[in-house]
Amino acid sequence: MTIKLKKQVIEILKVLKRKSTELMAIELAKELNVDYIVLMAAINDLIDHNLGGFREEEINQISLNDEGLNYLEIGLPERRLLNLLIESDIKEIGITEFLNKSKLDKKIFYVGLSNMKKNRWIAQSKATGETKIFLVAEEFSATEVEEFMKKFEKSPILNYSKLSKIELECLDLLNKRKLITKAKKTQRIIFLTKKGRSVKLSEIKELKQVSKLTSEMLSSGSWKDYNLKPFDVTKPGPSLKGGKYHPLVNLINQIREIFISMGFTEIRGPIVESAFYNFDALFQPQDHPARELQDTFYLNNPKIAKLPEKDKVMAVKATHENGGDSNSLGWGYEWDENVAKQTVLRTHTTATTIRRLAKFYRDNEKTPVKVFCIDRVFRNEKLDKSHLAEFTQIEGIVIDDHVNLSDLIGLLSEFYKKMGFEKIVTRPGFFPYTEPSMEVSVYYDKIGEWLEMGGSGIFRPEVTYPWGIKEPTRVLAWGQGLERIAMLYYARKDIRDLYINPIKWLRQQPY
Ligand code: PHE
Repeated sequence: MTIKLKKQVIEILKVLKRKSTELMAIELAKELNVDYIVLMAAINDLIDHNLGGFREEEINQISLNDEGLNYLEIGLPERRLLNLLIESDIKEIGITEFLNKSKLDKKIFYVGLSNMKKNRWIAQSKATGETKIFLVAEEFSATEVEEFMKKFEKSPILNYSKLSKIELECLDLLNKRKLITKAKKTQRIIFLTKKGRSVKLSEIKELKQVSKLTSEMLSSGSWKDYNLKPFDVTKPGPSLKGGKYHPLVNLINQIREIFISMGFTEIRGPIVESAFYNFDALFQPQDHPARELQDTFYLNNPKIAKLPEKDKVMAVKATHENGGDSNSLGWGYEWDENVAKQTVLRTHTTATTIRRLAKFYRDNEKTPVKVFCIDRVFRNEKLDKSHLAEFTQIEGIVIDDHVNLSDLIGLLSEFYKKMGFEKIVTRPGFFPYTEPSMEVSVYYDKIGEWLEMGGSGIFRPEVTYPWGIKEPTRVLAWGQGLERIAMLYYARKDIRDLYINPIKWLRQQPY
């Protein structure tokens, strides 16, 4: 019957058969240049097939100490001194000159010198007054001690009881030179069984090596007939492509943190909004071009929105028709409640901040109120590399007494500074619901350009009075584009990338 073994187990078996002697496991591991653990795993395979085994034995073990190991590598001092003479072609030399030339520690030099004499490599004479060294031998082959030391190259530990008489003499010499460590330790001794000694290599087949286990191998038990390829755990593995936050989500979270750190609270509002909150409450006349179909998505389902309390609807109607109690003349047209009841996908998050004004009124709240909203808005725009039909606004309001335009500029500067934009400029702008109105631009160092970020201003009395918010209480308001900032942050030239999600780009993003 043929025996199936892993390749590395066969290698070990071969060595053991060739040596036909017992070996210490550490010795064998060194010889095969494998890890001790790997070796013992292989021995287990031999045990499974009753080919080999190991026993533990207390051993008087000897090894070289650090100095001895160093000499094993660079040569004993006498050998190094000899090499120096041969290399420099020196036949005779004064002892002091020799010492200096050797650059050895004095003590080591004399140890080397006395061993050179013992080896009969040199002679010493004082005939001329100064002690001189003469090279006398013609042949400088390795000494017995050197031969013995070489044994430690093969096995770091030798078994005292296995040493020959000559080896014991050498050991004694090295021990006197303080190059040896002795210890009593339990070692594993590897041996072959009778079967292991007699088995012919032709009767042994190598197990097929595979790198993957299949479920089939497991269920049929055939995995035993395979040699699993060992893993190299030092090799880099495939890069992990785990789930992570989308860059836009990360950016939103960062902005959220900034507003929260500035004392703001987050608000949210419906995406399906009434024209009332989206336009009318913002004092946008019902024939305002922004309401036209090309900009606004009107909805058929639901078609009609619920309006707030009657008196508030009436107050808004009055501001449009004649200014109501806001000291304004209004727009001077007949306001139609049915137009206000139309449903739209909100075109800006300003609709949500107006809802917050309504809450301020209903809950009879005290100033100041500082809120922000980061959310989606919709406009019927043609898509291109700088326009989306669905995008995100960063909106906010501060309801407080005596606040003015400087406060608003200060707030926005602070926000953009925290976002990493040092410089901002504001220019006059126009929105039907703010007076004064400002456009905000930030300076982007990396491309050396000013970029428009969005609008802001102080809500007009026509917007705030219907909700009972009157002088000296004012409402600072702003609405900025998130995707603009995202394009700068993530260096995307095409705004659509943020939603099309090129997988390569997403994978490069940090977790
Ligand atoms: N709603 C405006 C827009 O969508 C931005 C804005 C908000 C302007 C608040 C002034 C005050 O562009």
